Amino acid sequence: MNVLGIETSCDETGVAVYASDRGVISEVLHSQVEAHAAYGGVVPEIASRDHSSRLTPLIREALRQADMERPDAVAYTAGPGLVGALLVGAATARSLAYGWEVPAVAVHHMEGHLLAALLEEDAPDFPFVALLVSGGHTQLIDVTGPGAYRLLGESLDDAAGEAFDKTAKLLGLGYPGGPALARLAAGAAGGRFDLPRPLLKRPGLDFSFSGLKTAVVHAAATLAADDAVGRADLARDFEEAVVDVLVGKSLRALAQTGRSAMVVAGGVAANARLRARLHEGAAEHAARVTFPPPSLCTDNGAMIAHAGWWRLQAGEHEPLAVQVRARWPLGELAPINPPQP
Ligand code: KG4
Ligand code: ZN
Repeated sequence: MNVLGIETSCDETGVAVYASDRGVISEVLHSQVEAHAAYGGVVPEIASRDHSSRLTPLIREALRQADMERPDAVAYTAGPGLVGALLVGAATARSLAYGWEVPAVAVHHMEGHLLAALLEEDAPDFPFVALLVSGGHTQLIDVTGPGAYRLLGESLDDAAGEAFDKTAKLLGLGYPGGPALARLAAGAAGGRFDLPRPLLKRPGLDFSFSGLKTAVVHAAATLAADDAVGRADLARDFEEAVVDVLVGKSLRALAQTGRSAMVVAGGVAANARLRARLHEGAAEHAARVTFPPPSLCTDNGAMIAHAGWWRLQAGEHEPLAVQVRARWPLGELAPINPPQP
């Protein structure tokens, strides 16, 4: 089965074709970074308009690369995300599926991220613990099967990616800040600022990043405007604090659930320091961590095509009405039946 996947939940227009026998056979992406950069963050109306103008040419290109006129099914992100942006993808996907007379399936954006790790060659078997870390979510989930998700803990305030973005903005790195902050931190020594590790010592699996953000604001205020080394040191200490918390809570989740496999997904999973520290930490607990390749960590069409395939092969598809959800708890999804041989 060839599934066309469409992602438009935020600031990337992603389109890809996933073939059940060959994997991801075509993939195209347009990032809106430049359109939003001047505003320091994503402007929802600009996002919707940009998706509208980019999506159709990208779909054509993805099909051309896959050398096909029409797919066997269309999968689209139906939430969570920006409602206007989601509607562009959902309406386009639903209309194409109607015209092509193929099924369409609504995909949960975070399920797309989570299942992307299964596209790796050494993908783990179920069950496993998933750490979802993106611009909007920080969640630990016990995954007992495809579609069977139990929330173990989540951020009570800012998401990890949001903390990266806000800290980057404070350090003058612009939007989107996560990758720029990680680059700045990579060249710094660190160890100069004593930043908090919120909730790390407390029991439980919830996160909080707003206190850390405030501590960074105070630390930044002690730096002279031209102290580039100080800013890099602060970036490094901030990254280390976030990574300490994410690693500490992830290992606790493995211990509490007794799982020996873990999957990390979402934009922050592209962070090299997090990848290295989690590999180390998990190895000490005789567990194995899988990360999708960095290009599949941030938003993309391939993860939507792939997650859509899981639901389509189990017989799921959507009626003609187009529905999207700005908020959508992952635990509300129905478990997916295993693939047919
Ligand atoms: O999953 P994603 O592309 O979009 C959402 O669904 O939110 O995640 C984007 C988030 C942003 O906050 C971005 O700054 C962060 O992921 N991010 C990173 C890195 N690459 C992306 N954060 C830290 N280090 C990175 N290398
Ligand atoms: Zn995402």
